[in-house]
Amino acid sequence: MLKQEIEDGEASLADPAFRADVLTGLASRPRAIPARWFYDHRGSELFEAITDLPEYYPTRTERAILVEAGPAIAAAVGPGRAVVEFGSGSSAKTPLLLGAIEPAAYIPIDISGDFLRESASELAAQFPGLPVLPIEADFLRPIALPDGIAAMPKLGFFPGSTIGNMIPHSSVDLLRAMRASLGTGAMLLIGMDRVKDVDVLVRAYDDAAGVTARFNLNLLERINRELAGTIPVDAFAHRAIWNDMRARIEMHLEATRDVAFSIEGRNFAMAAGETIHTENSHKYGERDARILLRAGGWTPISEWTDAEDRFALILAEAQPPRLAP
Ligand code: TRP
Repeated sequence: MLKQEIEDGEASLADPAFRADVLTGLASRPRAIPARWFYDHRGSELFEAITDLPEYYPTRTERAILVEAGPAIAAAVGPGRAVVEFGSGSSAKTPLLLGAIEPAAYIPIDISGDFLRESASELAAQFPGLPVLPIEADFLRPIALPDGIAAMPKLGFFPGSTIGNMIPHSSVDLLRAMRASLGTGAMLLIGMDRVKDVDVLVRAYDDAAGVTARFNLNLLERINRELAGTIPVDAFAHRAIWNDMRARIEMHLEATRDVAFSIEGRNFAMAAGETIHTENSHKYGERDARILLRAGGWTPISEWTDAEDRFALILAEAQPPRLAP
């Protein structure tokens, strides 16, 4: 087969939602492509590599907090809860939680079915006797939980500061949807990255080895691969900047010279210095985090951080509505 035929074949297999997001996002101002499209096979591998980087403190800090706070978390949530994990991915941190508490069931929710079933069966093997009931779904939508866990008290688990990848408006929608899915009386254990020294933050998203740069640039390679794109990837640079007004790290892809390219036959041009916005990672101070949770219907009841207060694990509860004040 000729190279062009292979590319055409791949282009016709492309996810229509990916095509729509890319074409709309590059036609909009500011240019932006939703971060979910980072995670093709290569992107998922690069993301795993990011979590091991010396500069990328969140993953190892959150793990250490989970280990250290395990007994306190167990005391606060009590035994017999059905643990519902939103966007479980490889479920890398889950054994730490399940091993610390006495769960009655584990319900991982993820949009990627293959990944989900694989990690669910690994966990089931690791925790014999624990019912593991995976749900393949987009956790941004309301979720119907299995009937078998209806009578159990619930514990939502949302680690990784994934909440920070949403703008606050969407975060509140998600927290409210989680409350609706889990019900009054449920608890939520959620990881949030703190506001801190700007250099530490920027380095975590712009590492010396360039892994985060490759992760960001892989989005352009993916567009070229799957949408018959002609983007000159070498004309783009990874940028991680702190937006203080919005308390977030932003990742962009910046054109380092004037470029013109096409995607599925549509033409685009960018001047040197113009960017495509690809990711946000909002950071929350201690009171910011509590207000966000309360805006979403969750009352914070305990929290655990590392010695340098770089990252927080917060336990919140869906309390019954009560009259003001
Ligand atoms: N939620 C984590 C964070 O914001 C992980 C993450 C999501 C991430 N997208 C990323 C890390 C892009 C680095 C680059 O840190």
